[in-house]
Amino acid sequence: MDKEINRRTFLKGITGSAVGLAAMGMMGGVSAIAEEPEKAAPAVEGKKQFSGIYNVRYVTEDLVYLGVSDRRIELFENVYPVPRGISYNSYLLLDEKTVLFDTVDRSVSGQFFENLEHALGERKLDYLIVNHMEPDHSSAIAQVVHRYPEVKILCTELAVSMIAQFHEIDIAKHGYAVSEGMELVTGRHRLIFTLAPMVHWPEVMMTYDATDKILFSADAFGTFGAPGGNLFADEVNFETEWLADARRYYTNIVGKYGPQVQAVLAKAAALDIAMVCPLHGPIWRENIGWFIDKYDKWSSYTPEEDAVLVVYGSVYGSTENAAGVLATKLSEGGARNVTVLDVSKTHVSELIAESFRCSHIVLASITYNMGIFTPMKNFIADLQAHNLQNRCYSIIENGSWSPASGNLMRALMDEMPGMRQVGGIVTVRSTTNEESYGALGTLAQEILSSLNGSAPAADEPAAEAAVSAWRCTVCGYIYEGASLPADYTCPLCGVGPDKFEPVS
Ligand code: FEO
Repeated sequence: MDKEINRRTFLKGITGSAVGLAAMGMMGGVSAIAEEPEKAAPAVEGKKQFSGIYNVRYVTEDLVYLGVSDRRIELFENVYPVPRGISYNSYLLLDEKTVLFDTVDRSVSGQFFENLEHALGERKLDYLIVNHMEPDHSSAIAQVVHRYPEVKILCTELAVSMIAQFHEIDIAKHGYAVSEGMELVTGRHRLIFTLAPMVHWPEVMMTYDATDKILFSADAFGTFGAPGGNLFADEVNFETEWLADARRYYTNIVGKYGPQVQAVLAKAAALDIAMVCPLHGPIWRENIGWFIDKYDKWSSYTPEEDAVLVVYGSVYGSTENAAGVLATKLSEGGARNVTVLDVSKTHVSELIAESFRCSHIVLASITYNMGIFTPMKNFIADLQAHNLQNRCYSIIENGSWSPASGNLMRALMDEMPGMRQVGGIVTVRSTTNEESYGALGTLAQEILSSLNGSAPAADEPAAEAAVSAWRCTVCGYIYEGASLPADYTCPLCGVGPDKFEPVS
């Protein structure tokens, strides 16, 4: 990218838009541009290979939604189940210049080009703004350039290099790098670019239409789920039918990058926003503050609700039983909306989303190969990968001869920032007995107290109790005795005394 071209091409800041427009190589200003003869879109080979007709909807009088819903897809990013499908949103601004905002996934490119061709009519495409280079939004870029060879692509400098990596097009001819605050005047509209790195890739930017107060927000404010005609969030029962998928989308796709999202929210707070056009899911034009508040909570790792999530890993049902007993005792104590999920059967993306929603997380796991039950271990690893913070957690472990999962889970949870254990580890040996039943009741009371804010945020240290045994932190083996010999080695895994912890 020629930086000299960049400097000549754009004018930083809000003022001087007309200069910026003229500098785009269109000397003569707005009137001259309006007089410029329009060129028809090039003939499209194989256009009618797509069996259907355009399917577009006007967002405003000159902004057209070209996006396509995909309800056949099973796994978004080949990871996340999307039983309600997903949409790839793209928008076309029909001003004195025509501007396409992002493209779509290749799986729906047939419908997309049908839509684009219809919406453009006989006009040419002047600009393609690439807010995000992930292929679900960028895989049609090369085709756009092929069909509209005069198009100018506006994106961040990093996106320019990514386009070159993904597509065999002459990026030096088509690509124009923009930076924070640069703007493009297209006639009536004034578009301002603002960077949004790591929301959700490093090259991401957003585009703000200062004329109609529309934020083209890239992945931010998107959701799983495929709109069907009802394109606006206020046309659907978003809170009851879409919010869970919006939460699952955000927490799993962008959840790791909370600080970066907070930075973007701070920028957005300075803008007068009447509409948010994301790259997935419904468009927001009402009650935007409600959705922004959700994003604020998710990205600051603030629980959405004072609520308990119980996740259990159970092979023969005893740990499931203990988790169920705890949930019942919590409910009897007044807790509402207690959620109990089987870690083996619940997709981890749902577990992650629920963990972001709830203030309290209970992990109940069997001991498996002297460690944590593998699905539970994977879930906790995913929690760490998504940077979850600031939760209360409690632990139930089960083991028939050497319960070990509890301390191991606690160690992993304590690696995450702001995690506080509520209650002690409840140990079940094979099945819940009178003693462990009582311990579950005690744990429930401690969680209820924490929920009600009547307990200290973190457990008070228990009074010193006599050490009666030592537990190997690697394999869970128990050495019975008040003191561990200095040269002791674990008979199961062979580690030395430094790997043992006292058991009271
Ligand atoms: Fe929807 Fe990060 O792509």
